[in-house]
Amino acid sequence: KLKNTKMTNLVLFGPPGAGKGTQATILKDHYNLKHISTGDVFRYNIKNETELGKLAKAYMDKGQLVPDTVTIDMLKAEVRQASEGNGFIFDGFPRTVAQAEALEEFLNEEGTQVSAMIALEVDDEILVQRLLERGKTSGRPDDANELVIRKRIKVYYEETAILKQFYLKENKYFGINGVGTIQEITNRLKEVIDQLV
Ligand code: AP5
Repeated sequence: KLKNTKMTNLVLFGPPGAGKGTQATILKDHYNLKHISTGDVFRYNIKNETELGKLAKAYMDKGQLVPDTVTIDMLKAEVRQASEGNGFIFDGFPRTVAQAEALEEFLNEEGTQVSAMIALEVDDEILVQRLLERGKTSGRPDDANELVIRKRIKVYYEETAILKQFYLKENKYFGINGVGTIQEITNRLKEVIDQLV
């Protein structure tokens, strides 16, 4: 079991390009939380040519989700490896109902739970522009062309957006405007998080 059961565990939510990674990097230092980005873990495995990386790449390059079982096992391993902090920021996980259920069960077993899901709300056309811009320098194959970017957004609406209902039912959902300067959005997030910690 995780030693610290009074943790703040945040799910940072939103479509591709909403700013999850950007904000998680700022918030993890401010609140001493461990940032777990499933996308980053997959990219690390791709770079190191692991079996997991080879499997994930086939899905990621097409803008599809990596299968749940693989993703859930990986997430659990990341949580178990983490050194003690005040909790976790999950970025890019959960992305399906099966993943949300698995996370709930797993955290319960560990003696803790998700504190809140905070969603960054950004219009699709702004997402596409941000990701096309990032694609120029990031080297991310899934940012390289507009078709794949739009496919990722479509997958988000088809498989992931429903999770809003999952956390609404538990009174854990908070939506904030994800358009503005990075600092403005950080401040909006802190307003929500400060009420939870
Ligand atoms: P993942 O790595 O999670 O990517 P994503 O969800 O597509 O999100 P992004 O990293 O593109 O966007 P972000 O919201 O983090 O925004 P960011 O801060 O970078 O997933 C990639 C793939 O991995 C998936 O497609 C899937 O195949 C697989 N995968 C991952 N998790 C999985 C799971 N749980 N299950 C199954 N498969 C999974 O910002 C975007 C850009 O905008 C940046 O250039 C940034 O500088 C800029 N920006 C940020 N904030 C602002 C702002 N306020 N104003 C202007 N620009 C801004």
